[in-house]
Parts: sequence; structure tokens; C-alpha cells
Amino acid sequence: MKLDEARRDYYRKRAREEGYESRAAYKLLEAIKKYRLIKPGDRVIDLGAAPGGWLQVASKAVGSTGIVVGVDLSPIHLEMENTHTLKMDITDPKLSETVKELIKRPADVLLSDLSPKISGAWDLDQYRQIDLTITSITIGDTLLRVGGNAMFKCFQGERFSEAEKEARQRYNFVAIMKPHASRNESSEMYLLCLGRRP
Ligand SMILES: C[S@@+](CC[C@H](N)C(=O)[O-])C[C@H]1O[C@@H](n2cnc3c(N)ncnc32)[C@H](O)[C@@H]1O
Repeated sequence: MKLDEARRDYYRKRAREEGYESRAAYKLLEAIKKYRLIKPGDRVIDLGAAPGGWLQVASKAVGSTGIVVGVDLSPIHLEMENTHTLKMDITDPKLSETVKELIKRPADVLLSDLSPKISGAWDLDQYRQIDLTITSITIGDTLLRVGGNAMFKCFQGERFSEAEKEARQRYNFVAIMKPHASRNESSEMYLLCLGRRP
């Protein structure tokens, strides 16, 4: 078995044992540990949240005084006291208003693990994924507080630098992260962004 497959299987098995909906949970856990991305009491928005691994991690990280809102085209079958889920397209013009009603004040953290349906045509998939990421970065302009943190998935490729530029214009600190739970052969990376600028 190749090392990459072994690592994927390890995180899948661990997610099953620890009750996480997806092995993606370990990517967010690593970011929280490394960058203190989420703190107790935070309000967190999670775009592209199904099936819900990140929601479970965020819900635990914010605790009973925090609020988490997960948005996805697909339904999310999870119930946690501090968490709301919305079956919605992130490009829906009603998104901001709907989320604001739930969190009452600007969010402290914005998460985006969005991925389009993979067509197999690499250029097209990367183009679409970066479009989703840039949309999430701009959603932060209206929903994330000044000083807030964010984490955005990006497919590597021609348009990666576009997304990186948009992030660097808005945050005091931006790091590129390849989480341990992400397969080496997968082209996904994450932009870790701390301190949204005014
Ligand atoms: C890799 S999955 C997210 C996994 C999730 N972070 C977890 O921990 O379980 C990507 C998600 O993005 C969602 N998605 C793609 N385009 C979307 C859009 N326009 N609006 C909302 N969700 C979208 C997909 O439905 C899919 O569930």
C-alpha cells in the first residue's frame, strides 16, 4: 500500500472511531492547534460544511457560549446545541441576511472547505473551485469582524495566486498550509488567514 493511501485510511479509521462525520475534521483540528484559529465563545461560519466534520470540531472549539453556522447545498444531518445548518447556495443573495439573523453580530471566524462537483477536467475543476473560494473571501467582507480569522480551501493551479492575492489584501497574516490529513497527491491547500484588516 502506498504511503498516501495508508495515511488516508488511518484518518478515515480514526474519524470513525472518534465519531467524526469525515476525516476532514483533522485538517481543521491541525489548523486550530497550530494557529489558534478558533477560541471558546467565537461565532463561526462554515461554508461547504456537509457532511459535517468541521462543524463538529468547530462546535467543540467554541463551546456552549459560541455559535456555529454551517452552509451547504447538501443537507447536513447533525444536531448540536450551539450549531445551525442552512441548506443554501453560498452565492444566494439572501445568505448574508440569513446568517446575520442567526449570529446576531459579525463572525469571529470564517471557514471554507468548498469544492465543486469534480468533473475530472482538471482546468475546469480548478477554475470552479477558485471561484467558490473567492466568493467566500468576499463573503468575509460583510460577515467577518475586523480582526477575525479565516481558513479557505484552494485547489493548486493557475488561479491559486488570484485567491492568495485576494486573501493577502484583506488579512494581516496569511500562511499556506497542507494539513497532514490531506493526501499528498490531492491538489488541495489551505490559506490560513489571521486578523482581517479594516
Ligand atoms: C469537501 S466537502 C466539505 C467537507 C466538510 N468540511 C466536512 O468537514 O465534512 C465540500 C462541500 O462544498 C459544498 N459546495 C460546493 N458548492 C457549493 C455552493 N455553491 N454552495 C454551498 N455549498 C457548496 C459541497 O456540497 C460539499 O459538501
